[in-house]
Amino acid sequence: MEEKKRKLILDVDTGSDDAVAVLLSILSGRFDVLGITVSWGNSDVETCVNNTLQIVDMLGADIPVFQGCPGPMVREMTKGRVMNLPPNKISTTKDGKVYTMHPNVLPIPPAVSKKQEQHACAFLMEAIKKSPEKVTVIPTAPMTNIGMALRMDPSLVENIEEIVLMGGAVHMGNASPSAEANFFHDPEAAKIVLDSGAKIRIVPLNATHSAGLYREDAAKLIGLGTMAGKLAGDLVNMRLDSSDIMGWRSDQGEPIHDALAVAWALDESVIVESREEKCDVEMNGGICDGTMVVDHRRGYEFVPNARVAYRGDRKRFMEILCEHLSKGPKAADV
Ligand code: RIB
Ligand code: CA
Repeated sequence: MEEKKRKLILDVDTGSDDAVAVLLSILSGRFDVLGITVSWGNSDVETCVNNTLQIVDMLGADIPVFQGCPGPMVREMTKGRVMNLPPNKISTTKDGKVYTMHPNVLPIPPAVSKKQEQHACAFLMEAIKKSPEKVTVIPTAPMTNIGMALRMDPSLVENIEEIVLMGGAVHMGNASPSAEANFFHDPEAAKIVLDSGAKIRIVPLNATHSAGLYREDAAKLIGLGTMAGKLAGDLVNMRLDSSDIMGWRSDQGEPIHDALAVAWALDESVIVESREEKCDVEMNGGICDGTMVVDHRRGYEFVPNARVAYRGDRKRFMEILCEHLSKGPKAADV
């Protein structure tokens, strides 16, 4: 008997790794994707919407895309909140060539379809409330949209199957010395989600950096011969090029953060180490603003609110990517 598809809403800021997450969630065929809501983050929200539409169009998928919030809930209202931190750089120019982690336009045909009129937050509230089955939400961006929806209607949580989010880090950082970008950009939204009472799984930097991809993986994805495989492989190479030039390379490959969250929602075996944790986020400004705080103490007050992934399996991650990105239009078709 065919497995029942899980109702899904993706919340993205496409973005290179979001692009792979979108491809994987659509092509897996295991989700009934009710819609894709788009946040600001890797770029302004309009650019992230356009990038998302490009992917949906490339796959010929009939999935509505909703534009969401253009900035964080309240973070920017506190003057000087992060004044001591250097700006977070995702692009650089060398010898006249631009290297970026997140292109402003994806290297595929331009979008022809249009975003929906409805605001992403309104869609989240309506779709989750009305769904006859519980909805899984996968946020891979600053959680402004889902945080706002939960703030307006906390009872949404009753019809959420689970939230599998990419964000946070345990003793690591990328947007700042101690904070991961999705938490850093909207700490209050992250706090609302963490405290919502929903079943939560978190894919932090610890997991994504442990299952990074290499040039050989990019070549394998391109070799699948599909548009999806080619786009994913090109984006992995683009990220590797940028990391190299910006001196970010580690010997653990290039993290494709957001796609790992979708892979974990699809298949438990891609994460080989995870723990129930009590997670919080710093919201008081200063050098640790937006840092995820995991309480490692185990006392009588220990009440976990999330399962945190610590280590992924790169080989399994590649198997999942190859299985699903081998579907859809052939590379030569477009
Ligand atoms: O820290 C990684 C996250 O920030 C990913 O969601 C990526 O898309 C970036 O925005
Ligand atoms: Ca993202």
